[in-house]
Amino acid sequence: MADDATLKKLFLAEYGKPARLFSAPGRVNLIGEHTDYNDGFVLPIAIGMRTVVAVAPRSDRKVRVRSLRVAQDAEFSLDRSDFTRQGSWVDYVEGMARSLESRGVKIPGADLLVESDVPIGAGLSSSAALEMSVGLAFTSLAGEPALSPRDLALAAQDADHTYVGIRSGIMDQLILAFGKPERALLIDCRSLDTTEIRCALPGAAIVICDTKVKHELAASAYNQRRDECEMSVAALRQRRPDLRALRDLSEEDLETHGQVLSETLRRRSRHVVSENARTLAAARALSRDDLAELGRLMVASHASLRSDYEVSCAELDLCVEIATAVRGVYGARMTGGGFGGCTVNLVRSDAVEDLAETLVRRFQERFQKRPYIFAVRASEGMKEH
Ligand code: GLA
Repeated sequence: MADDATLKKLFLAEYGKPARLFSAPGRVNLIGEHTDYNDGFVLPIAIGMRTVVAVAPRSDRKVRVRSLRVAQDAEFSLDRSDFTRQGSWVDYVEGMARSLESRGVKIPGADLLVESDVPIGAGLSSSAALEMSVGLAFTSLAGEPALSPRDLALAAQDADHTYVGIRSGIMDQLILAFGKPERALLIDCRSLDTTEIRCALPGAAIVICDTKVKHELAASAYNQRRDECEMSVAALRQRRPDLRALRDLSEEDLETHGQVLSETLRRRSRHVVSENARTLAAARALSRDDLAELGRLMVASHASLRSDYEVSCAELDLCVEIATAVRGVYGARMTGGGFGGCTVNLVRSDAVEDLAETLVRRFQERFQKRPYIFAVRASEGMKEH
């Protein structure tokens, strides 16, 4: 990963002018999966891996973008009214620009150079990190009217929906905007209120295991889950006309009214309802440093994502199974949208090595490839450097 000084030098060599630098982190969700688009609760942290964008304005309305990591330069005009989806990372950049302009932010043309150490497509929010860093860069060049970090997050979510074609929730963009060192954020995805929860984890570490698996159908399956939740709400309204989202349903409600749902929709709803309860309990456990309880909730979350929500896969299940058998591991679960990507492990500091060694050995035995294992800490959100 090029440091700031190197990135500025490379920008100067490429575009012949000095740059400002903006960045946004990746994220790990500790718990609260597939709850955000149900108006529910999530408990993510921002991590130390970041996407950094070097930027300088242009006098015309063209945007040129290069990445140090992905060999594909792109160029588009902000004046062009039509948009063609490329199916690549460029959609996030152009989508973000268009989403901001539709909110009245007048972006000048710009030259961009992007660098990142957030693993791509691993469920650590590499795409939101690109959207938010580019979005912060664009809005900073535009000056007035300034967008609040929250509105910037909403603009990025809109870019996902309108230009990328994935109907994501708001978790990723909000934690990237508001993340803080040593803090997890409990986000109420209905009100968008955020509560900081101390995440110092005395004597423990958060370890990520990236399976490097990415299943083809992840985006369409994600949208399908979202549709299933909406169908569940529509059906449950026969009994509960006041119901706005699965967030409004308790476990008892589901017990009472669940027969209006198909078996599949009942399981999808049960995941969301139980995961919301687990997330609130996890936030309480974390704030009193009750890591055993937090770990237990993580394991229950994984079981629910695997069996009720069906967004896990063999590789993730194996990683959780291996990890939870290692002494000193409080809990493990898949993190992010699923269908591949990473698990998050909460583990005693003196057991980290044992966990990493066991995961690598047993994963390799079964899948003949090496997972990528690293520790993360709660880190700061987006910023100008
Ligand atoms: C992806 C989406 C988020 C959220 C998670 C699942 O990361 O971008 O909005 O829905 O999946 O919790």
